[in-house]
Amino acid sequence: HKDIIGLQDLAREEIQLLLDTADNMREINFRDIKKVPTLRGKTVVNVFYEASTRTRTSFEIAAKRLSADTINISASTSSVTKGETLSDTARNILAMKPDIIVMRHAASGAHHYLAQRVSCSVINAGDGAHEHPSQGLLDMLTMRQKFGTLEGLTVAIVGDITHSRVARSDIFGLTKMGASVRLAGPPTMMPPGIERLGNVTVCRDMREAIEGVDVVMMLRIQLERQGKTLLPTLREYSRYYGLNPQNLKLAKPGAMVMHPGPINRGVELSSYVADSDQSAILTQVENGVAVRMAMLYHVHGGELATE
Ligand code: CP
Repeated sequence: HKDIIGLQDLAREEIQLLLDTADNMREINFRDIKKVPTLRGKTVVNVFYEASTRTRTSFEIAAKRLSADTINISASTSSVTKGETLSDTARNILAMKPDIIVMRHAASGAHHYLAQRVSCSVINAGDGAHEHPSQGLLDMLTMRQKFGTLEGLTVAIVGDITHSRVARSDIFGLTKMGASVRLAGPPTMMPPGIERLGNVTVCRDMREAIEGVDVVMMLRIQLERQGKTLLPTLREYSRYYGLNPQNLKLAKPGAMVMHPGPINRGVELSSYVADSDQSAILTQVENGVAVRMAMLYHVHGGELATE
C-alpha cells in the first residue's frame, strides 16, 4: 500500500503483518541506541489540524528511530489560519518533496481526498469520526501481547461511540482478527446501524456489555464534538457509563482495561481503575511507537537493517 487510511481497507493478513512488524520494532525500542537506518534520507511531514499529544509525538519518535528526517506542522501556527485550503497546503508541502505525510484532520475522508492528490505516502493519524488506524493497531498489539491471540477475545467498547474514530478502527481491526466486540453507550452517542459493521453487539446497558469480557475499552466523551446540550449530563454519564472498581468486577478476573487517552478522569474512568494493575493505558502508549514504526516502514518499504 502507498497509503494507510483505515483498517477497513486492510486485509486480515495485512493487519497481521503490521502487528508482527511492530513486535520486531519493539525490540529496537528496548536497545541502548534505539535507532536503525531503515528510512535514512526519507522525510516525514506530520501535519496536525487537530490537537494531539500521543499520536504526533509517537509518529515523530517512530520516524526518528527509523532515521527519517521529520517536520511537524500544526494548523494553528501554519498558513491554514490565513484560509489556505487542504489541497493548496498539500500541493505546497509536496513541492518540498516529502516521502510520507502523516495527517490528523477534523473532516472524515480528508485522507482519501489528500491521497488522491499527492504522489507521496499518506498515513491517517485520525480523521473526524471515521478512523484512527494507528490507534486500532496499537490497541490490538497490546491485547495480543497479553492474550497471545486476538482470535476468540471478547472486547467491550464503552462510551461516545458516535464521535469515536478509535471505536471504528478497533471494530474493523478486531472483528477481522476474530474477536467479538460489544458496544455500550448513551443512546445519544450510539450511531444507528453500527451493529452492521461485523461481529458487533450493541448492549442495552454497560453492565451487560462488560459481563465476562477479556478487555474493557473505555472511550473519552468528546466534549468538543457535542452539540450545545450535553445529554446525558456528565454526572449521569459517569454514573451509568463510567468504569469503577465495582462494575469492573463484572468482567473476567484480571480483565484488561484500556483507554486511548486523553482521559476525563472521574467521568468515563475512575482514577483508581485508570492507575490500577489492570490498566494497560501506558502500555498502549508505549506500543504506539512500535506500531507507527511498522506503519512508516510498510508504506515506504526498505530493508530492516540494524546499525
Ligand atoms: N489517542 C490519541 O489519539 O491521543 P492524542 O489525541 O493525544 O494523539
